[in-house]
Amino acid sequence: MASINDRVSVANLKRIGVLTGGGDCPGLNAVIRAVVKDAINHGIEVIGIEDGFLGLIEDRMRPLKVEDVSNILTIGGTILGSNNKTNPQKYPVGRNDDGSIKYKDLTEVCLTHLNVRKIEALVVIGGDGTMSAAKPIADGGVNCVGVPKTIDNDLYGTDITFGFQTAVSIATEALDRVHTTAASHHRVMVVELMGRNAGWLTLNAGVAAGADIILIPEIEFDLDVICNSCLERSQRGKRFTIIAASEGAKPKGGAQIVERVDEMSPDPIRLGGIAKWLSDEIEKRTEIESRYVVLGHVQRGGTPVAGDRVLATQFGHHAMELLKMGMKNRLVVMRGRELGDVEITAAADKQRLVPHDHELIAAARSVYTCFGDR
Ligand code: F6P
Repeated sequence: MASINDRVSVANLKRIGVLTGGGDCPGLNAVIRAVVKDAINHGIEVIGIEDGFLGLIEDRMRPLKVEDVSNILTIGGTILGSNNKTNPQKYPVGRNDDGSIKYKDLTEVCLTHLNVRKIEALVVIGGDGTMSAAKPIADGGVNCVGVPKTIDNDLYGTDITFGFQTAVSIATEALDRVHTTAASHHRVMVVELMGRNAGWLTLNAGVAAGADIILIPEIEFDLDVICNSCLERSQRGKRFTIIAASEGAKPKGGAQIVERVDEMSPDPIRLGGIAKWLSDEIEKRTEIESRYVVLGHVQRGGTPVAGDRVLATQFGHHAMELLKMGMKNRLVVMRGRELGDVEITAAADKQRLVPHDHELIAAARSVYTCFGDR
């Protein structure tokens, strides 16, 4: 990982663009604010591109002034809009005769729009899909600096993405609330969390809320182990069980439950349904009354927690430092407590999953949390 102290300022930028791509998350506006204020402080104009790469293809952009980013630090979502379906290199334009989707490479269209508007560099705020989409634009000669966002915290190359801490906090509060109602009614409550194929969100919220069973995609579960754990708790006088289940959790040798397939999207699979399935199975097998809750997009909404506001501001500032120094195609990252940057392509099309020997799993097991595997 490179450090900012090793470099000197060389670039003489006049105008940059900024876009937010992929699923939204709390803290996007905080990054936009940091980028715009820093840029304008250094005499650089900022053009906001609407709805991620879709706005770049459709040439929908607007200048961003300090007034436009004033008072947005604490606001969730993104003032620019986002889109998690568009990769300019593989843009769906209809169907082939055999029914398959017909794609067109619109990289040149994007480069032309940037060129005409004299945008010299781009800050792309997003996850792995956004970093992949940025690659051809970078290859086409427009410097792209990435800022890592996602509630899933699964971006390769960085220990943390902004948005994650807020999602953990929202999910923890939800689990806490479910806890009291589960205890009153002596039920098993299964709570489904987002995270795609990574269990970071469920693991952290599950530990924070003291969930009795935590199911993450990285550790395949055995339904018998889960049912036995619920029954054992009942026998010990704990007449309720809280299960925090990742949307991507799956049984040993089984498959993830897919809620929908959006074939026009470069990342077409949407997971969901595990909580209902588990709740039904557990009730059938143990005869303990069970209910389920799907937290869904609530985890992505609302105001960012302090940690995400701080991180987003640091990331935005670091992105601007890289641009001003003329560093090409970097991704801002945080490793440990140190800010740095890596090649933007390092994060493209990869996912950072929870390792089985992660210390938080060991800590959770040490307080008798069951991961459904043993
Ligand atoms: O990547 C963020 C995320 O919220 C995932 O946790 C979830 O699987 C997915 O996006 C949901 O996508 P959509 O907003 O398209 O339903």
